[in-house]
Amino acid sequence: MIVTCNNCNTRYNINENALKKAEVSARCAKCKHVFTVRKSIEKTSVENAVVESQPVKNEPINIDGINVTDSNKNAKIISICNQKGGVAKTTTALNLGVSLGLLKKRVLIIDFDIQANLTLLMGYKDAKSFFEVIHSKDSGISEYIIKTKLNMWLLPSNSKMALLSKTHIQDEDFEYLLRDKLKSVAPYFDYIIIDTPPSGDFYTLNALLASDMAIIPTPCEYLSMQGVNHIVNMINVVREKSDHVLDYKIPITMFEQDNTASRVILKKLKDEYNDHVFTTMIEKDSKIQESQIVHTPTIYYDKESRAGRQYYNLAKEIINL
Ligand SMILES: Nc1ncnc2c1ncn2[C@@H]1O[C@H](COP(=O)(O)OP(=O)(O)O)[C@@H](O)[C@H]1O
Ligand SMILES: [Mg+2]
Repeated sequence: MIVTCNNCNTRYNINENALKKAEVSARCAKCKHVFTVRKSIEKTSVENAVVESQPVKNEPINIDGINVTDSNKNAKIISICNQKGGVAKTTTALNLGVSLGLLKKRVLIIDFDIQANLTLLMGYKDAKSFFEVIHSKDSGISEYIIKTKLNMWLLPSNSKMALLSKTHIQDEDFEYLLRDKLKSVAPYFDYIIIDTPPSGDFYTLNALLASDMAIIPTPCEYLSMQGVNHIVNMINVVREKSDHVLDYKIPITMFEQDNTASRVILKKLKDEYNDHVFTTMIEKDSKIQESQIVHTPTIYYDKESRAGRQYYNLAKEIINL
């Protein structure tokens, strides 16, 4: 439904289903005036809340280090997910983001994991997260995006992210929280990469429904392969629910050529997922762990490192998809 600020006449397109009461206060994103919005049919009666609304037109927004007029992009949004922990999701999100940046792409990385590992690896602590984005009454997502020293942007995570699912799981459309917030910043980036937690369907579902593609990292070992199956099943559900195409690709991580089990599982993955498996494989490489100790992406830590270069090649493969 369209509502108009009665102070400056800016028009907004508001999702009527998101209004928790028949009458709510809305704050105009432009002039900050607070006015009353009434919905035509009363549907729910949950507490108060100021509704943060998005302008009908894509109005210029401020993102640290980006010219407000430079908004002619249409970010490809990629979730990094696997139900299993320790499969290199966070390592992949970081090294892929950095490599895309080196390939002259403008990249935003979102740490959507309550453990905030990615935020830590990038050297940030106690930064504001998507939790604060959702609960802020008068600032948009752009104000929480940090320009890092690696020519890459970050929306950090913190421990409050754990409360996000508890607070919003009952919301109608809870699975679209992230998708809706990303709309205003997508025109400013080439790629948005979302790192997700190993468990908690709330977070993974939000990430998948915001994405054009899922990247499912897996080492060649049995239980991680089961994690791939789980996500692929979830993707099939999401495909039915959402109106955009959600593709998926699988990068093999921590590969060990000399390990028999690794080679057997690699064959199984290729047989089952065919073209969904990336050509580039990431080998097990101690430089990954060394680089994480000093909070530096691997290719910056050692530009000759095998895994660092393989992530760079993976980024090229993604650009050419
Ligand atoms: N290619 C690799 N070679 C060696 N160790 C790796 C590699 N990729 C990831 N690791 C290590 O594996 C562990 C799990 O990686 P992480 O990215 O945190 O996984 P997840 O986010 O899936 O839990 C980390 O200690 C990381 O340093
Ligand atoms: Mg992780």
